[in-house]
Amino acid sequence: WGAHFDLVKGIEELKRQRNALILAHNYQRPEIFHGVADIQGDSLALARAAAESDADVIVMCGVHFMAETAKLLAPDKTVLLPAPDAGCSLAESITAADVRALRAAHPGAPVVCYVNTSAAVKAECDSCCTSANAIEIIENLGAPEVIFVPDEFLASHVAANTSVRIIPWRGRCEVHERFTGAEIKEYRSAADVFVLAHPECPPDVQRAADFVGSTSGMIAALERHRPERAMLITECSMADNVSGAFPDTEFTRPCNLCPHMQRITLPKIHDSLMRMSPQIEIADDVAAAARRSVQRMLDLGG
Ligand code: 13P
Ligand code: SF4
Repeated sequence: WGAHFDLVKGIEELKRQRNALILAHNYQRPEIFHGVADIQGDSLALARAAAESDADVIVMCGVHFMAETAKLLAPDKTVLLPAPDAGCSLAESITAADVRALRAAHPGAPVVCYVNTSAAVKAECDSCCTSANAIEIIENLGAPEVIFVPDEFLASHVAANTSVRIIPWRGRCEVHERFTGAEIKEYRSAADVFVLAHPECPPDVQRAADFVGSTSGMIAALERHRPERAMLITECSMADNVSGAFPDTEFTRPCNLCPHMQRITLPKIHDSLMRMSPQIEIADDVAAAARRSVQRMLDLGG
């Protein structure tokens, strides 16, 4: 922490000067998550916090689609993304033209897009969802079949838990797809451990887990179960960030880091607040349509 002290102090000072709010996703580096963030959470919680805040500036410590979603819900605020190259393999797996082609191939089926998509893709969809509310949103649309993009593993998780027919896309998270059911079984054979997996993991990982849910869902499950030993099958930083809140739980995990989340660093946060750049901008027509799809999610119960 000593090495971070001056930077944290400088960021706090800039935050006051700019009337800025720093949001950090659960996968951020611990020095960001615990050191400078005003609000921590999953992608939905962060977007909501951006909308509800009376700050002039939002600094999104997360990836590009999260910063775009914050800008959609807080259009009058300046939204900074300290590392503009912090992308996401899921968001990059599908384009607006792909969604139009899916609609043409399945006439009448509504399109639900995971929040891990670009604003241009959200603009083509009927409703957005997150991993915390995907099943609820899909069921509340009241349609017999739904096109669900872009995560094929989240799609199979939803399909296993609803009678709505799911038409999937073949996108994957480059971090979660690397976990295997075999490694979980190996950990389990060595010790009694409560396994929590994100629904972006492959189906054999989900089957081998005790709980499957979003990052906020995993934290809630830990609060309910208070296990002696837990394994979070998700981005590696999350266990570092939440372990302090569970002093009686021993955390163990195979470690996969998200290279995009890791691109956000304290020096980049300091620099972006100093220069008020890079800012998120979304063309008005795209923003209006994408905002409707995010708003539909909130109206449908997300
Ligand atoms: P959550 O919405 O569960 O925070 O997940 C976002 C994400 O990018 C998972 O990889
Ligand atoms: Fe995207 Fe996966 Fe990184 Fe989440 S962990 S931001 S889904 S690449």
